[in-house]
Amino acid sequence: MAVLIFATNNKNKVAEIKSILDGVMEVCSLSEAGINVDIPEPHPTLEANASEKSNFIYKLTGKDCFSEDTGLEVEGLNGAPGVKSARYAGDACDNKANIDKLLFNLKDNTNKKGRFRTIISLIIEGKEFLFEGICEGQITDVEKGNNGFGYDAIFIPDGSDLTFAEMDMAQKNNFSHRKKAIVKLIYFLTQVYGKN
Ligand code: IMP
Repeated sequence: MAVLIFATNNKNKVAEIKSILDGVMEVCSLSEAGINVDIPEPHPTLEANASEKSNFIYKLTGKDCFSEDTGLEVEGLNGAPGVKSARYAGDACDNKANIDKLLFNLKDNTNKKGRFRTIISLIIEGKEFLFEGICEGQITDVEKGNNGFGYDAIFIPDGSDLTFAEMDMAQKNNFSHRKKAIVKLIYFLTQVYGKN
């Protein structure tokens, strides 16, 4: 099947998605497609942001593509940082500042439950389809591990004792929100849409 463009500039997301789709589907990142744009994420929901990104790239290229938007939703913080996860501590997109702010805001809270939620927006032959992946878990009191990216060092998925940052990519894929959403996309494309 034709190559799918993954509408992101995030190298960590590209590596994860490629490791999941290895041998199943061919994906090319924006930089591999020669596209150098910063796509806006101005909306109040993950769904709307994911949709904005895939539609932006579809309008630019006319090619099949997908995007994803992810948020960390912490129960004890009423779902924050959620759709604002990338800019929780300000517009600089500084992971360390985001983590520090989250740990500070949660430190006296006994409810450490959180979940990563990913929305994928796929545009195939001009039509859009959305897929969701959720990973439930707990927020740690301190950062642990050096792998991964974003909030990985403070998130332990249910069923593990390790943070995502203490896992390698294959281990993270066993639990991850992104993997769950992409598995739905693969099923849709191969079984429902009849592509292979
Ligand atoms: P976005 O989907 O690129 O807007 O990401 C929102 C925020 O969540 C950014 O701070 C990312 O670094 C973070 N993030 C996205 N996916 C993950 C993940 O799988 N693990 C940890 N942090 C993530």
